[in-house]
Amino acid sequence: MSDANAKKIAKEVHRRRTFAIISHPDAGKTTMTEKLLLYGGAIHLAGSVKSRRAAKHAVSDWMELEQQRGISVTSSVLQFPYKNYAINLLDTPGHADFSEDTYRTLAAADAAVMLIDVAKGVEPQTEKLFKVCRMRKLPIFTFVNKMDREGRNPLELLEEIENLLGIKSYPINWPIGMGKAFKGVWDRAGQKALLFDSGGHHGEARVDIKESTLDDPLLLNTLGPVRLQELKDEVELLDIAGDEFSLEQVRNGELTPVFFGSAMTNFGIEPFLEAFVEMAPGPDEVRVKQVDPTRPEFSGFVFKIQANMNPAHRDRLAFIRIMSGRFERDMQAKLARENRQIKLAYPQTMMAQDRETVEEAYAGDIIGLYDPGTFRIGDTIYTGEAVEFTDIPRFSPEHFAIVEIKDALKRKQLTKGLDQLAEEGAIQVFKQPYLGEKDTIVGAVGQLQFEVLKFRLEKEYNAVVQLRPLLFQHARWVDGEGFEQQKFERQDYTKVLLDRDDNPIILFRNDWALNYCKGQYPDLRFLPNPPGT
Ligand code: G4P
Repeated sequence: MSDANAKKIAKEVHRRRTFAIISHPDAGKTTMTEKLLLYGGAIHLAGSVKSRRAAKHAVSDWMELEQQRGISVTSSVLQFPYKNYAINLLDTPGHADFSEDTYRTLAAADAAVMLIDVAKGVEPQTEKLFKVCRMRKLPIFTFVNKMDREGRNPLELLEEIENLLGIKSYPINWPIGMGKAFKGVWDRAGQKALLFDSGGHHGEARVDIKESTLDDPLLLNTLGPVRLQELKDEVELLDIAGDEFSLEQVRNGELTPVFFGSAMTNFGIEPFLEAFVEMAPGPDEVRVKQVDPTRPEFSGFVFKIQANMNPAHRDRLAFIRIMSGRFERDMQAKLARENRQIKLAYPQTMMAQDRETVEEAYAGDIIGLYDPGTFRIGDTIYTGEAVEFTDIPRFSPEHFAIVEIKDALKRKQLTKGLDQLAEEGAIQVFKQPYLGEKDTIVGAVGQLQFEVLKFRLEKEYNAVVQLRPLLFQHARWVDGEGFEQQKFERQDYTKVLLDRDDNPIILFRNDWALNYCKGQYPDLRFLPNPPGT
């Protein structure tokens, strides 16, 4: 590798920003995503993301479910440039049924933007997602949305963030007014007001921003003397009362920079984006690195497999987060699990939901590789010196059901469908010891995954099934001496199954059952993951 090449890789990696938006449904994630694309120049008039999405729905059976339920089941990635930065925005599913997908997506992000509705504050889904980000030590940026509506007092919201989530907050800017009187934000570092002017647009185009200072007649004219005095008092209070700003604490996930705005009207989007790209870490600046991202050799891991995005082709994409070096189309790399060389063909990138073929990509980027069944979630691929990424979260299922097929002649299709969906990580498949495959049991982390399973088995594999719920809440693999299967089968609060690799796994009726068994069998370990993983 020449010096020039190494320099080029370092430079490319440094300008990557890879993040996800976390929020409770309805806080405005779709709207915010669209506005980020607008400011990134990836779309020209806001409004097109939704209509494109609608067009996609029309051609995709699978998406019908999303449409019926008004939710986003799948998650993908959008790439767009902003200034000198290359941004990868990972889309997390927004529905309330929390899935493994969301966790894995966050494993591929270097930062998170927490979107909060000013009227509602920190909502349950935000809190759950926040905790995952916390565990991963991700830097978290807060955007308080819907300032064009009357909402809660901003100081009260900051207090809620600190108390409920246990993270310090630092307002980078401060709202000037709220609801109809929302005129702009006070930029604390620049000591200036940014006054927004929609120019009569309704959020389809960028807003004009006029800068003003506290002694500028423009600000007095815009706000009037009473409101101006209030702003002066608020600014003073913030400066004496709040936490100190520290970029180091932001990068460590200990302090969240807070921004105010309205995604719908575009007010506050630009000041947010400008500060975000500066403060969020590039892949070379994240705190916990498993590999040097600027090393020239390519490496990455599969965090998501998504089938049938285009039912006409029945194709399947493996989404890979690049962890180091440069990716080139058709390059050879090693699949760590099988210790064999594979060709990385047909790479795709997502630009505002259109697929394009990528020629090259760098650490921080996400690419989708055509997957004929090669990849599994959590797979590492690399060139050069061996690396293995083991940090992809796995979860034990909490919902279980027996799969009953209506038409016995469709059993083959059912088996194929269940196998493929299990490979995708959408569900887990179990067998009952002593009984045949006729009694397949499926497990999922969220109830919604069952609905998706039923729907996809019918649409994609032509297998109509009933799912008969099994009333168990926990599943644990067993490790240790002296495990006697029969004992666990005799009691009605446990049930023994076999996983895909024929390891025994025990279902427990509830918390009590799990704790009771832990007490009864001190020599056994009940593990949320298969032993040895
Ligand atoms: P989500 O992806 O987080 O679920 O939220 P989404 O963007 O779909 O927004 C949810 C609703 O909130 C939408 O209204 C959207 O227009 C509105 N919204 C988003 N940002 C803002 C904002 O800054 N201010 C105000 N006032 N509203 C906002 P809807 O009526 O459900 O849909 P639509 O008819 O507007 O499309």
